[in-house]
Amino acid sequence: MKRTRYALVALLSAVTLALAVEPAAAQTSTSSGLINELNLKLLYVAIPITLLVEVILIYTVLKFRNNPDPKPTKENRRLEITWTIATAIILLFVGVASYGVLADPAVTYMEDSQDQEAGPGPNDVVVNAEAFQWGWEMTYPRENVTSGATIVLPQGQDVYIQVTSRDVIHAFHVPDLGLKMDAIPGEQNTIMTTPLETGEYQGYCAEYCGVSHSQMYFTVEVVPQDQYQQWLQEQRNSGGDGDGGNQSAGGNQSAGGNQSADGNQSGGNSSAVNVPPALVALGN
Ligand code: CUA
Repeated sequence: MKRTRYALVALLSAVTLALAVEPAAAQTSTSSGLINELNLKLLYVAIPITLLVEVILIYTVLKFRNNPDPKPTKENRRLEITWTIATAIILLFVGVASYGVLADPAVTYMEDSQDQEAGPGPNDVVVNAEAFQWGWEMTYPRENVTSGATIVLPQGQDVYIQVTSRDVIHAFHVPDLGLKMDAIPGEQNTIMTTPLETGEYQGYCAEYCGVSHSQMYFTVEVVPQDQYQQWLQEQRNSGGDGDGGNQSAGGNQSAGGNQSADGNQSGGNSSAVNVPPALVALGN
C-alpha cells in the first residue's frame, strides 16, 4: 500500500512540475502556439500516468504469477481517497487547460461574441476565402484585391479569414499555422489569428469534395508589413486577379465568372496567365 501511495505522490509531483514548466513551443501563429502548447502540457501529464499504469501492471503480473488464488484488496479507504483526489486533480487540470485554449479567439472565434472589441479593427486584415470545385478564390474586401489561391499576410498583424463555399462543403486547412475551418455554402465561418513567423505555408482542402479534392491547394505567405503593403499596391495596379491558371485546374471554371465577383476587373490582364500575382510580386 505504501508503494502505491508513493507512486501517486510521484505522479502528482510530475503533474505539478509539468504545470510549472512553460513549454517553449514553436510559434508560427498565435493559433498554432496555443494548440502546440496545450498538446505538450497534456503530453507531460500523460507520460507519468502511462508509466504508473505500466509499472503497476508489470509488478502485479510478476508478483502474482505463481499464485493461483490471489486475494483482492478490500476496504482501503486511504487508497480510495488518494486515487479519487489524484484523478480529480488531473481531470481538473486537463479541463481548465483545454478550456483556456478552446475559448481563445485565436482557436475558436465567435462571430456574434458579446465583446464588441472582438471584431476586426481598422488596421486588421480581412480576407474572404471562398472555396469552389476545385479551387480557392481569396479576396481582400477592404482593399478591393483578389488574389486567386494565394493569401499574403503581414507578420504580427491580427488577421480575420472569412471562410465560405460556392458549391459543396470544403474545408480550409493550414496545418503549420494551426488553422482549420469548414467552408460551407451560404455560411461564413471566421478564423482569427496573428501570423508570427514569415514564410510560405501550404494550405489544403480538408473535406472530400469530388474528383479534384486532392488538388485544392492554396498558399499562405507571411511577409513583413512593408512587403505586404507593397504587394497590395501591386495587386491594385495590376487589376487584382491574374489567377486564371489556378482556377482552371478544376476544368469547369469560367474565368469571367470568377473575376466579375470583384467588380473592378480590367480586361487587359493578360500579363499573368499562369503565375499567381503574389509570386510575381515577391520575385521583384
Ligand atoms: Cu474542396 Cu476537398
